[in-house]
Amino acid sequence: MPVRTRVAVIGAGPAGLLLSHLLGRHGIESVVVDSRSREEIETTIRAGILEQGTVEILSETGASDRVLTAGRKHEGMELRFDGEGHRIDFAATVGRAVWLYPQHEVLKDLVAARLAAGQDLRFGVTAERVEDAETNRPRVVARDAEGGAVEIEADVVVGADGSRSVAREAVTGTYGGYFREYPFAWFGILCEAPPSAEELIYSNSPDGFALISQRGPGVQRMYFQCDPTTDPGAYGEERLWEILRSRVPGITLNEGRVFQRDVLRFRSFVAHEMRRGRVVLVGDAAHTVPPTGAKGMNLAVADVVVLTEALRALLLDGDESLFDAFPDTARKLIWKAQHFSWWMTSMLHLQPGAGDFDRMRQIGELRSVVESEAGRAYLAEGYTGRPLG
Ligand code: DHB
Repeated sequence: MPVRTRVAVIGAGPAGLLLSHLLGRHGIESVVVDSRSREEIETTIRAGILEQGTVEILSETGASDRVLTAGRKHEGMELRFDGEGHRIDFAATVGRAVWLYPQHEVLKDLVAARLAAGQDLRFGVTAERVEDAETNRPRVVARDAEGGAVEIEADVVVGADGSRSVAREAVTGTYGGYFREYPFAWFGILCEAPPSAEELIYSNSPDGFALISQRGPGVQRMYFQCDPTTDPGAYGEERLWEILRSRVPGITLNEGRVFQRDVLRFRSFVAHEMRRGRVVLVGDAAHTVPPTGAKGMNLAVADVVVLTEALRALLLDGDESLFDAFPDTARKLIWKAQHFSWWMTSMLHLQPGAGDFDRMRQIGELRSVVESEAGRAYLAEGYTGRPLG
């Protein structure tokens, strides 16, 4: 017997869980499935910067109180190049801020809020495909952890199942999309040491990019640009610190035991289609951005805010107009975030094969940003984001 619900959500990441939370506030019932365990979802380390609009949605809708108490407000950041740091003051330029609050903490809050609300949330259930997209009863065909068949029939199916989405095939047919790969990656570490600076440092150096971020009073998250084929085990700790130090000349880094390391690939992707019939894609299932500027989760949240309004109108008022317009509405936000992420990436990283001209031009670009009020405001506006909803 298929499970019957109004909205079937594939993926219990930020997009899927927030969507079910926002729908629940309108009295719209949903079922959420994810192939991963709760523990895996709550412990996988991802990015850490939330736009002000994301924080407002999480706190004002009761999804997370902890974001305001455990999260740290950042009213500026440092851009570093040519041996000097330049502060971008978000508060002074655009009157907004970002919060440092790791994505897995957001996920813990969302899982707890959904379970407290009695949400049908199924871990260890792997969606295999989506059928009947062009009918009013699309279905998710899935398997539970024991291999048993699970079928969920809904008014709408939402693919919030990340960059390896199985829902995407039902929407785009071909997995087709706009795609860009970058010739570098980030080597990321977590280390036991207090923050080296109050605010995040984005550094363009002759040896390549580095980002000095934080995770709390005793833990730092740091990244440096590396070749995409780099093995995370390739460097000893002393070599890691040497590389990091050389990428932020003029800064004294607080060093400590490195307890996690990973290599992040850089890609930009936007699916050609975000909706077919009653199946829609949100978050990384619909798009991927390179990590510079931390737009990934914030963009997923923006998709979900737009989709919630569309589903409310469709399912409660029988009004299809916002649902039909969803891909066009979302696409405008997506391409702005794509541009911002690409711009921050290209301005700050060393392009393999770059000559002196390219490097000097990049410094000129960075100076144009930090020495102009309009330039600082442009960066601050893109980084802190616009109000959602
Ligand atoms: C972090 C990641 C980012 O991509 C970024 O732009 C800022 C911070 C982080 O993981 O802390």
